[in-house]
Amino acid sequence: MTDQPMYESGLIAHGIDTTRPSVARVYDYALGGKDNYESDRELYRQIMKIAPETPVWARANRLWLKQVITWLAAEAGVRRFIDAGSGLPTVENTHQIAQKVSTDASVMYIDNDPSVVAHGRALLLDNDRTQFTAADLTKPDEVLADPAVAGMLADGQPVALVMALMLHHIADYDETLEIAGRYVDALPPGSYLAITHACNPGDGGPVDVLVTELLEKVKGAFPTLAFRSVEQISSLFHGLEVLEPGVVRLADWHVPGGRVEVDPQVGIRDAIYGGVAHKA
Ligand SMILES: C[S@@+](CC[C@H](N)C(=O)[O-])C[C@H]1O[C@@H](n2cnc3c(N)ncnc32)[C@H](O)[C@@H]1O
Repeated sequence: MTDQPMYESGLIAHGIDTTRPSVARVYDYALGGKDNYESDRELYRQIMKIAPETPVWARANRLWLKQVITWLAAEAGVRRFIDAGSGLPTVENTHQIAQKVSTDASVMYIDNDPSVVAHGRALLLDNDRTQFTAADLTKPDEVLADPAVAGMLADGQPVALVMALMLHHIADYDETLEIAGRYVDALPPGSYLAITHACNPGDGGPVDVLVTELLEKVKGAFPTLAFRSVEQISSLFHGLEVLEPGVVRLADWHVPGGRVEVDPQVGIRDAIYGGVAHKA
Protein backbone atom coordinates (compact mmCIF):
# COMPACT_ATOMS: atom_id res chain seq x y z
CA MET A 1 0.00 0.00 0.00
CA THR A 2 1.32 3.48 -0.84
CA ASP A 3 1.22 6.47 1.50
CA GLN A 4 -1.54 8.07 -0.55
CA PRO A 5 -4.38 5.59 0.23
CA MET A 6 -3.43 5.63 3.92
CA TYR A 7 -3.57 9.40 3.85
CA GLU A 8 -6.86 9.32 2.01
CA SER A 9 -8.38 6.85 4.46
CA GLY A 10 -7.29 9.15 7.27
CA LEU A 11 -9.09 11.99 5.61
CA ILE A 12 -12.24 9.96 5.21
CA ALA A 13 -12.06 9.30 8.96
CA HIS A 14 -12.21 13.07 9.40
CA GLY A 15 -15.32 13.23 7.18
CA ILE A 16 -13.46 14.74 4.24
CA ASP A 17 -14.77 13.70 0.85
CA THR A 18 -11.98 14.43 -1.60
CA THR A 19 -14.10 13.32 -4.56
CA ARG A 20 -16.48 16.29 -4.29
CA PRO A 21 -15.49 19.97 -4.35
CA SER A 22 -15.69 21.94 -1.11
CA VAL A 23 -16.24 25.70 -0.99
CA ALA A 24 -13.39 26.16 1.48
CA ARG A 25 -10.95 24.21 -0.71
CA VAL A 26 -11.97 25.77 -4.06
CA TYR A 27 -11.49 29.19 -2.42
CA ASP A 28 -8.15 28.01 -0.99
CA TYR A 29 -7.05 27.08 -4.52
CA ALA A 30 -8.18 30.48 -5.85
CA LEU A 31 -5.92 32.08 -3.23
CA GLY A 32 -2.96 29.91 -4.25
CA GLY A 33 -3.27 27.51 -1.29
CA LYS A 34 -2.33 23.83 -1.15
CA ASP A 35 -5.20 22.33 0.92
CA ASN A 36 -7.24 21.22 -2.09
CA TYR A 37 -7.84 18.16 -4.27
CA GLU A 38 -8.42 17.39 -7.93
CA SER A 39 -12.22 17.68 -7.54
CA ASP A 40 -11.75 21.25 -6.23
CA ARG A 41 -9.26 22.17 -8.94
CA GLU A 42 -11.52 20.77 -11.69
CA LEU A 43 -14.46 22.91 -10.53
CA TYR A 44 -12.15 25.90 -10.25
CA ARG A 45 -11.05 25.40 -13.88
CA GLN A 46 -14.73 25.42 -14.89
CA ILE A 47 -15.30 28.60 -12.88
CA MET A 48 -12.28 30.24 -14.49
CA LYS A 49 -13.75 29.68 -17.97
CA ILE A 50 -16.71 31.84 -16.94
CA ALA A 51 -15.04 34.22 -14.51
CA PRO A 52 -11.29 34.50 -15.12
CA GLU A 53 -11.08 37.30 -12.52
CA THR A 54 -11.86 34.83 -9.73
CA PRO A 55 -8.37 34.98 -8.12
CA VAL A 56 -8.50 38.81 -8.20
CA TRP A 57 -11.92 38.64 -6.53
CA ALA A 58 -10.62 36.24 -3.86
CA ARG A 59 -7.62 38.47 -3.13
CA ALA A 60 -9.89 41.54 -3.03
CA ASN A 61 -11.98 39.81 -0.37
CA ARG A 62 -8.88 39.06 1.70
CA LEU A 63 -7.70 42.67 1.26
CA TRP A 64 -11.12 43.83 2.53
CA LEU A 65 -10.74 41.49 5.54
CA LYS A 66 -7.27 42.83 6.31
CA GLN A 67 -8.43 46.45 6.08
CA VAL A 68 -11.50 45.77 8.25
CA ILE A 69 -9.68 43.85 10.99
CA THR A 70 -6.84 46.38 11.08
CA TRP A 71 -9.30 49.29 11.31
CA LEU A 72 -11.40 47.59 13.99
CA ALA A 73 -8.32 46.80 16.11
CA ALA A 74 -6.43 50.04 15.56
CA GLU A 75 -9.19 52.66 15.28
CA ALA A 76 -12.25 51.13 16.96
CA GLY A 77 -10.26 49.49 19.77
CA VAL A 78 -11.87 46.05 19.31
CA ARG A 79 -10.00 43.25 21.04
CA ARG A 80 -12.33 40.31 20.37
CA PHE A 81 -13.07 38.86 16.96
CA ILE A 82 -15.27 36.01 15.80
CA ASP A 83 -14.39 34.92 12.27
CA ALA A 84 -17.48 32.92 11.33
CA GLY A 85 -16.98 30.76 8.23
CA SER A 86 -13.24 31.34 8.52
CA GLY A 87 -12.14 29.03 5.72
CA LEU A 88 -8.75 27.34 5.49
CA PRO A 89 -5.71 29.16 6.88
CA THR A 90 -4.10 31.42 4.32
CA VAL A 91 -1.34 34.01 4.13
CA GLU A 92 -2.75 36.52 6.62
CA ASN A 93 -5.40 35.17 8.97
CA THR A 94 -7.61 37.25 11.23
CA HIS A 95 -5.60 36.63 14.40
CA GLN A 96 -2.33 37.54 12.70
CA ILE A 97 -3.85 40.79 11.40
CA ALA A 98 -5.49 41.70 14.73
CA GLN A 99 -2.53 40.71 16.90
CA LYS A 100 -0.19 42.74 14.71
CA VAL A 101 -2.12 45.77 15.95
CA SER A 102 -2.66 44.52 19.48
CA THR A 103 -1.01 41.42 20.94
CA ASP A 104 -3.91 40.98 23.38
CA ALA A 105 -6.54 40.56 20.60
CA SER A 106 -8.48 37.28 20.90
CA VAL A 107 -9.87 35.49 17.87
CA MET A 108 -12.45 32.72 17.67
CA TYR A 109 -12.66 30.88 14.35
CA ILE A 110 -15.78 28.94 13.43
CA ASP A 111 -16.27 26.66 10.42
CA ASN A 112 -17.99 23.35 9.66
CA ASP A 113 -16.05 22.17 6.62
CA PRO A 114 -14.25 18.93 7.58
CA SER A 115 -11.12 20.10 5.72
CA VAL A 116 -11.01 23.29 7.77
CA VAL A 117 -11.67 21.33 10.96
CA ALA A 118 -8.93 18.78 10.18
CA HIS A 119 -6.21 20.88 8.53
CA GLY A 120 -7.10 24.34 9.66
CA ARG A 121 -7.66 23.97 13.36
CA ALA A 122 -4.02 23.26 14.23
CA LEU A 123 -2.70 26.01 11.99
CA LEU A 124 -5.19 28.60 13.23
CA LEU A 125 -4.49 27.73 16.87
CA ASP A 126 -1.29 29.69 16.72
CA ASN A 127 -1.26 31.02 20.27
CA ASP A 128 -3.34 31.01 23.44
CA ARG A 129 -5.48 33.92 22.22
CA THR A 130 -6.91 31.98 19.26
CA GLN A 131 -9.62 29.34 19.43
CA PHE A 132 -11.36 27.18 16.85
CA THR A 133 -14.92 25.91 17.13
CA ALA A 134 -16.27 23.34 14.66
CA ALA A 135 -19.93 24.31 14.28
CA ASP A 136 -22.73 24.81 11.78
CA LEU A 137 -23.47 28.54 11.73
CA THR A 138 -27.01 27.90 10.49
CA LYS A 139 -27.75 26.68 14.03
CA PRO A 140 -27.30 29.83 16.13
CA ASP A 141 -28.76 28.24 19.29
CA GLU A 142 -26.04 25.59 19.25
CA VAL A 143 -23.28 28.01 18.25
CA LEU A 144 -24.20 30.57 20.92
CA ALA A 145 -24.44 27.83 23.57
CA ASP A 146 -20.94 26.60 22.77
CA PRO A 147 -18.89 27.35 25.92
CA ALA A 148 -16.07 29.04 24.00
CA VAL A 149 -18.45 31.30 22.05
CA ALA A 150 -20.60 32.03 25.09
CA GLY A 151 -17.43 32.80 27.06
CA MET A 152 -16.32 35.37 24.54
CA LEU A 153 -19.68 37.14 24.71
CA ALA A 154 -20.29 36.78 28.45
CA ASP A 155 -18.70 39.86 29.99
CA GLY A 156 -20.12 42.43 27.61
CA GLN A 157 -16.89 43.53 25.91
CA PRO A 158 -17.42 44.57 22.26
CA VAL A 159 -16.88 41.83 19.71
CA ALA A 160 -16.38 42.09 15.95
CA LEU A 161 -18.37 39.38 14.18
CA VAL A 162 -16.97 38.78 10.69
CA MET A 163 -19.00 36.75 8.21
CA ALA A 164 -16.96 36.99 5.02
CA LEU A 165 -18.39 35.13 2.02
CA MET A 166 -20.38 32.93 4.40
CA LEU A 167 -24.02 34.04 4.59
CA HIS A 168 -24.56 33.46 0.86
CA HIS A 169 -24.16 29.74 1.59
CA ILE A 170 -27.62 29.75 3.20
CA ALA A 171 -30.16 29.19 0.41
CA ASP A 172 -33.24 30.80 1.92
CA TYR A 173 -33.11 34.58 2.33
CA ASP A 174 -35.53 34.83 5.27
CA GLU A 175 -33.54 32.18 7.10
CA THR A 176 -30.33 34.09 6.35
CA LEU A 177 -31.86 37.28 7.78
CA GLU A 178 -33.04 35.45 10.87
CA ILE A 179 -29.68 33.78 11.47
CA ALA A 180 -27.74 37.03 11.05
CA GLY A 181 -30.21 38.72 13.40
CA ARG A 182 -29.74 36.03 16.06
CA TYR A 183 -26.00 36.61 16.09
CA VAL A 184 -26.37 40.40 16.14
CA ASP A 185 -28.82 40.16 19.07
CA ALA A 186 -26.22 38.16 21.01
CA LEU A 187 -23.46 40.75 20.46
CA PRO A 188 -22.77 43.15 23.34
CA PRO A 189 -23.38 46.88 22.75
CA GLY A 190 -20.44 48.53 20.99
CA SER A 191 -19.86 45.46 18.81
CA TYR A 192 -19.41 45.37 15.03
CA LEU A 193 -20.73 43.20 12.20
CA ALA A 194 -18.64 42.87 9.03
CA ILE A 195 -20.00 41.02 5.99
CA THR A 196 -19.02 40.26 2.42
CA HIS A 197 -21.65 38.60 0.26
CA ALA A 198 -22.21 37.51 -3.34
CA CYS A 199 -24.46 39.93 -5.23
CA ASN A 200 -26.61 39.77 -8.32
CA PRO A 201 -27.98 43.21 -9.24
CA GLY A 202 -30.76 41.42 -11.18
CA ASP A 203 -30.76 44.11 -13.86
CA GLY A 204 -29.96 41.95 -16.88
CA GLY A 205 -26.56 43.67 -17.19
CA PRO A 206 -23.14 42.02 -17.54
CA VAL A 207 -22.77 41.15 -13.82
CA ASP A 208 -26.25 39.60 -13.78
CA VAL A 209 -25.40 37.52 -16.88
CA LEU A 210 -22.02 36.49 -15.45
CA VAL A 211 -23.26 35.39 -12.02
CA THR A 212 -26.30 33.62 -13.48
CA GLU A 213 -23.97 31.53 -15.67
CA LEU A 214 -21.62 31.00 -12.74
CA LEU A 215 -24.40 29.84 -10.44
CA GLU A 216 -25.61 27.39 -13.08
CA LYS A 217 -22.10 25.93 -13.29
CA VAL A 218 -21.57 25.50 -9.53
CA LYS A 219 -25.09 24.68 -8.32
CA GLY A 220 -24.44 20.91 -8.41
CA ALA A 221 -21.45 21.31 -6.09
CA PHE A 222 -22.78 24.18 -3.97
CA PRO A 223 -26.59 23.84 -4.01
CA THR A 224 -27.21 26.42 -1.26
CA LEU A 225 -25.18 29.24 -2.83
CA ALA A 226 -27.31 32.37 -3.32
CA PHE A 227 -26.39 35.65 -5.03
CA ARG A 228 -28.57 38.44 -3.58
CA SER A 229 -29.58 41.99 -4.40
CA VAL A 230 -27.81 44.98 -2.81
CA GLU A 231 -31.03 45.68 -0.88
CA GLN A 232 -31.13 42.17 0.53
CA ILE A 233 -27.46 42.31 1.54
CA SER A 234 -27.98 45.73 3.13
CA SER A 235 -30.92 44.38 5.15
CA LEU A 236 -28.60 41.92 6.87
CA PHE A 237 -27.38 44.98 8.83
CA HIS A 238 -30.91 45.80 9.99
CA GLY A 239 -30.94 47.80 13.25
CA LEU A 240 -27.22 48.64 13.04
CA GLU A 241 -25.40 51.81 12.07
CA VAL A 242 -23.68 51.03 8.77
CA LEU A 243 -20.30 52.78 8.57
CA GLU A 244 -19.11 54.70 5.53
CA PRO A 245 -18.90 53.99 2.63
CA GLY A 246 -21.98 51.78 3.22
CA VAL A 247 -22.74 48.41 1.68
CA VAL A 248 -20.85 48.69 -1.60
CA ARG A 249 -18.91 46.70 -4.19
CA LEU A 250 -15.59 45.48 -2.81
CA ALA A 251 -13.97 47.59 -5.52
CA ASP A 252 -15.49 50.71 -3.88
CA TRP A 253 -15.04 49.81 -0.24
CA HIS A 254 -12.65 51.71 2.03
CA VAL A 255 -12.12 52.00 5.76
CA PRO A 256 -14.15 54.79 7.42
CA GLY A 257 -12.28 58.03 6.80
CA GLY A 258 -9.95 56.28 4.37
CA ARG A 259 -9.69 55.87 0.63
CA VAL A 260 -10.36 53.07 -1.81
CA GLU A 261 -7.23 51.06 -2.58
CA VAL A 262 -7.38 51.43 -6.33
CA ASP A 263 -6.95 48.29 -8.40
CA PRO A 264 -7.66 48.63 -12.12
CA GLN A 265 -9.01 45.06 -12.36
CA VAL A 266 -12.71 44.85 -11.58
CA GLY A 267 -14.82 42.15 -13.23
CA ILE A 268 -16.42 39.72 -10.79
CA ARG A 269 -15.55 41.94 -7.83
CA ASP A 270 -18.61 43.85 -8.96
CA ALA A 271 -20.53 40.81 -7.75
CA ILE A 272 -19.18 40.91 -4.20
CA TYR A 273 -20.49 43.52 -1.77
CA GLY A 274 -19.17 44.31 1.66
CA GLY A 275 -20.07 46.46 4.64
CA VAL A 276 -19.28 47.07 8.30
CA ALA A 277 -21.80 48.17 10.93
CA HIS A 278 -21.77 49.22 14.57
CA LYS A 279 -24.20 48.06 17.26
CA ALA A 280 -25.09 50.96 19.56
C1 LIG B 1 -15.57 31.13 0.60
S1 LIG B 1 -15.07 30.62 2.19
C2 LIG B 1 -14.67 32.18 2.95
C3 LIG B 1 -13.53 32.09 3.92
C4 LIG B 1 -13.20 33.40 4.64
N1 LIG B 1 -14.33 33.83 5.46
C5 LIG B 1 -12.86 34.50 3.67
O1 LIG B 1 -13.73 35.31 3.36
O2 LIG B 1 -11.71 34.58 3.23
C6 LIG B 1 -16.64 30.25 3.00
C7 LIG B 1 -16.44 29.49 4.29
O3 LIG B 1 -17.70 29.46 4.99
C8 LIG B 1 -17.83 28.17 5.56
N2 LIG B 1 -19.26 27.89 5.80
C9 LIG B 1 -20.25 27.89 4.87
N3 LIG B 1 -21.41 27.56 5.46
C10 LIG B 1 -21.14 27.33 6.77
C11 LIG B 1 -21.92 26.93 7.89
N4 LIG B 1 -23.24 26.69 7.77
N5 LIG B 1 -21.31 26.79 9.09
C12 LIG B 1 -19.99 27.02 9.24
N6 LIG B 1 -19.19 27.40 8.20
C13 LIG B 1 -19.75 27.55 6.99
C14 LIG B 1 -17.22 27.23 4.52
O4 LIG B 1 -16.87 25.98 5.08
C15 LIG B 1 -16.01 28.05 4.07
O5 LIG B 1 -14.88 27.74 4.84
